[in-house]
Amino acid sequence: MSAPHSRDRSPTPGLFLGLIITLAAVVAYSGYITRQLSGLRELQNNLVDRNRKDSLQLLRIQNDLNSLALAMRDMLDNDEPYPLTAWSAQFQRVRTDLDDALRREQQVAPVNRSPDQQQYLQSSVAQFWDAADRTFALAQGPKPDEARTQIRISLRARQEALSTAVSRLLVQNNESEEQATQQIGQIYDRVQRQVYLFLTATLIAILLTSLYLIRWNRRLFAQLAALSAQRAELAQKVIATQESTLRHISRELHDEFGQILTAIGSMLTRAGKQLPEGSALRTDLREVCEITQETLDKVRSLSQALHPVMLEESGLESTLDWYLPVVERQAGIHVFYEKSGEPFSVDGNAAVHVYRVVQESLNNVTRHSGAKESWVRLRFMPEALEVEVEDHGRGFDAETAKQGIGLVAMRERAELLGGKVDFERPAQGGTLVRLRVPRETREETTREQLEKHAG
Ligand SMILES: Nc1ncnc2c1ncn2[C@@H]1O[C@H](COP(=O)(O)OP(=O)(O)OP(=O)(O)O)[C@@H](O)[C@H]1O
Ligand SMILES: [Mg+2]
Repeated sequence: MSAPHSRDRSPTPGLFLGLIITLAAVVAYSGYITRQLSGLRELQNNLVDRNRKDSLQLLRIQNDLNSLALAMRDMLDNDEPYPLTAWSAQFQRVRTDLDDALRREQQVAPVNRSPDQQQYLQSSVAQFWDAADRTFALAQGPKPDEARTQIRISLRARQEALSTAVSRLLVQNNESEEQATQQIGQIYDRVQRQVYLFLTATLIAILLTSLYLIRWNRRLFAQLAALSAQRAELAQKVIATQESTLRHISRELHDEFGQILTAIGSMLTRAGKQLPEGSALRTDLREVCEITQETLDKVRSLSQALHPVMLEESGLESTLDWYLPVVERQAGIHVFYEKSGEPFSVDGNAAVHVYRVVQESLNNVTRHSGAKESWVRLRFMPEALEVEVEDHGRGFDAETAKQGIGLVAMRERAELLGGKVDFERPAQGGTLVRLRVPRETREETTREQLEKHAG
């Protein structure tokens, strides 16, 4: 495989960057939202709720002050037959309630209440009660009318001032509640704007990362396809070159050496006939003649093994009929040969590939399977030619096996024929190689390819 090109560097850093940006956006946004929410909660607790409770207590105070105002009006009313001290008990009741309300009000006073305001309220109430106590003391004395004057000029004024102060506080509370509501509204607006911003940013990050990934993937696939095409072309070129070389050597051996050896043989026979019967030289010549014949046979069978001329002359079926017993003899395994279907003729070039697949499969059986038996099945089917070579030996996994040239070449040859080769594991264990070639093989294309590659 070619060295990776500089522009095809790994996409991992880019993808990492995209991931980090997206994650950072999510984390930052979550932090932001959490902060806004806690701000909201604080506003709700500190301002709104507190304000409401405080206003309730202020209303209670206001109510007490009103009761006092009514009582004072009755006290000043000259029609009343009771003495002023008759109101002392009512004042005491209001005082208790007012004290309680003031204590509670102080606890829930809004944070924006100034200490001065608080101080003013406290001291004004204290002064009112002081004045009230003095007035009741006067009322018990000899001049109850002076007590009435006190009520008119001092107590009522104090009560009214207090009432005004409480009203002001109520208005203040109301205003700050409105402010808080406004603030809450602003927070909601801000968060909404940020949500859109965040969503846009995240979507852009995801989009860019995905686009980058898609682009890179496309390039990778294109590169893979190109490499695969290159590899297939190379493999087919190698196969074509090998076939043409083998065919050439086989033909040279058969024709050239065959003729020379035949000529030597017949010349030796002729020369021997000219010598007297029984002479030593004639015996020697006959022996040389026999050796020549043996050599001729060997050359012929070597030529046949390299490239069976038979394939072109008598077809695939006959060639296998001749070849399988040869394998049995040479490799020492037993081959069961089964033929089925209506035989049809297979084009010479296609036949070479089928023959080579059988040859390589049987080679593998002898070299790797450890089996002593093999089954070769040749099936002529209406739409395809199928060849199987099976053994019940060690077996192997085509995906993980050490890759030799044999399996690769088988696949390439199948491809050249427009067919397909499968490696299976039979139920009994071992290996089953199945080559299936459609009957309408691309014979023309195959021949053209072979010739083109052989150059
Ligand atoms: N019939 C078989 N039984 C067991 N193992 C096999 C069989 N056929 C192939 N193998 C395993 O598959 C591997 C690859 O086979 P392949 O024919 O491609 O290479 P090879 O035979 O080792 O070398 P060569 O390139 O000479 O053919 C073998 O090394 C072997 O381990
Ligand atoms: Mg092999």
